[in-house]
Amino acid sequence: VETFQLAGAGPLAYEEHLVSRIFDPLAARLVTLVAPAPGDRVLDVACGTGAVARRASASDATVVGVDLNDGMLALARQLAPSARFVPGDAAALPFPAHSFDLVYCQQGLQFMADPAAALRSMFQVLRPGGRIAVALWRDLALSPGFAALVDALDRHVGPDAGNVLRGPFAMGEHTAVAGLAAAAGFDAVRVSNVCLAVPFPSVPELVSLEIASTPLADAAGSWPAGALAAITADVAAALHGFTADDGLLFPMGGYVVTGRSPDV
Ligand SMILES: C[S@@+](CC[C@H](N)C(=O)[O-])C[C@H]1O[C@@H](n2cnc3c(N)ncnc32)[C@H](O)[C@@H]1O
Repeated sequence: VETFQLAGAGPLAYEEHLVSRIFDPLAARLVTLVAPAPGDRVLDVACGTGAVARRASASDATVVGVDLNDGMLALARQLAPSARFVPGDAAALPFPAHSFDLVYCQQGLQFMADPAAALRSMFQVLRPGGRIAVALWRDLALSPGFAALVDALDRHVGPDAGNVLRGPFAMGEHTAVAGLAAAAGFDAVRVSNVCLAVPFPSVPELVSLEIASTPLADAAGSWPAGALAAITADVAAALHGFTADDGLLFPMGGYVVTGRSPDV
């Protein structure tokens, strides 16, 4: 499993280039779909730089974020001083049972070695009657900007590079995830459609910013000469139909699984 670990300048690049275009708009949708009630204790699992935690903090809630990655957490703390951010693994959340009223997990479950265990751990930290909302991408084919990039990475660098960007789209099968949520104990499990329109100024920027802001950054220094230019040319050809004078705009298909911990 690709665990989406960023080092060095990675968290800042992720925040600057991807959160504004993708993860903050998604967090806004998520927090609208399942809104914190006043006074709710909210947990953001796999919080990264805290996109969901920040949106949830806008309401009168007490917000905690948890993530494996210390660099992501350090940036999250700077960006949301009113929330608390702690290191931890989603499969063994470092909180007592029944500590939260609402648990979010946005684009994190697909990076976990044992997503079923992570959902069980989220269930345990929720109080009876508490709610969960898990956001995931649908199949890569429903995100044409990334499908084009994955194709070009396969062709010009190799499948290891393509697979890094396949990772985020690895849990596109919503019925399977809904089944995992039900198996973890949640009831009233529902799936909602979410589709974003993602802007980038140009194809070269899509390619270079995606490489800088994802785990591809580590390997990119050792790619063959000319690979970047070849990737960019292929992506430009594939995305011609999504470009205009004001740049690039392509859809990203996603969904949100919601559920509730039964009252005792
Ligand atoms: C694509 S980022 C999403 C971050 C954030 N939720 C957002 O929407 O911007 C995926 C995050 O999952 C975290 N992650 C991966 N496996 C994890 C695990 N087992 N427990 C906690 N966090 C994990 C990574 O460290 C990374 O910050």
